[in-house]
Amino acid sequence: MVQKAIEILKKSSSLLVITGAGISAESGIPTFRGKDGLWQNYRAEDLATPWAFQRDPETVWKWYDWRRGIISKAKPNKGHIAIKELEDLYERFFLITQNVDGLHGRTGIKNMIEIHGNLWRVRCTKEGRTFLLLDTPLKEIPPRCTCGAILRPDVVWFGESIPQDLMDKAYTLLNTYETLIVAGTSGVVYPVASFPTILKANGGKIVEINIEKTPISDLADISIIGKTGEILPEIVEGLKKII
Ligand code: OAD
Repeated sequence: MVQKAIEILKKSSSLLVITGAGISAESGIPTFRGKDGLWQNYRAEDLATPWAFQRDPETVWKWYDWRRGIISKAKPNKGHIAIKELEDLYERFFLITQNVDGLHGRTGIKNMIEIHGNLWRVRCTKEGRTFLLLDTPLKEIPPRCTCGAILRPDVVWFGESIPQDLMDKAYTLLNTYETLIVAGTSGVVYPVASFPTILKANGGKIVEINIEKTPISDLADISIIGKTGEILPEIVEGLKKII
């Protein structure tokens, strides 16, 4: 399977990668769905919606503070690093990640959209300006802007739209790139869940890497069952021998 994926990738002059929480699992960051997923123990409606935040910003921020604490101790793993190496191998490369943990950015990757935002960035609920807030743990919960208003994590919650400029960029990529690697996502959260179908409709090829089958598996040209931290480095090694 890995060899077949390498065959597809070596024929391609452009590469788009989409990642989800699974790519960070080997860095010790919990995923959302599945056996040990966050949504087994927490309700998304109580923690990841604008209504939950309006009702109880303290509870929402406590949950984000806890996650920021875990992420601050984590490091990019072999999967993140392999994706950075793919960027170096292709002239036309782009990553769309649904992850808000910032681990891809820490590999030095340049061509990337964090389509669900970044939990190290905060947004003033009054002025709308965004900036980084790196304190872990936070000094006050909920944290406040210098203007006095409550800050929120600059992430996309359920019921919110992805910023239009990011969607425009994503559609341009899906309409023009030849090959897509979908790695470590359950493929159930829209609009990203629909991205593979768009690329496929344009004649693109899809390689999926996941520890289990997903709704994307049947659409994929190659569906590899395995850990991203193991499969992605194998793919990079294979490509380096050829490219
Ligand atoms: P999920 O938690 O839904 O899915 C993680 C996927 O990674 C699953 O399909 C696992 O099988 C797979 N996986 C786990 N460990 C893996 C490994 N080592 N190698 C390969 N695959 C592995 O996470 P996402 O698909 O990212 O949104 O979820 C999408 C969105 O739903 C998130 O961005 C978040 C969430 O609720 C918001 O918060 C808005």
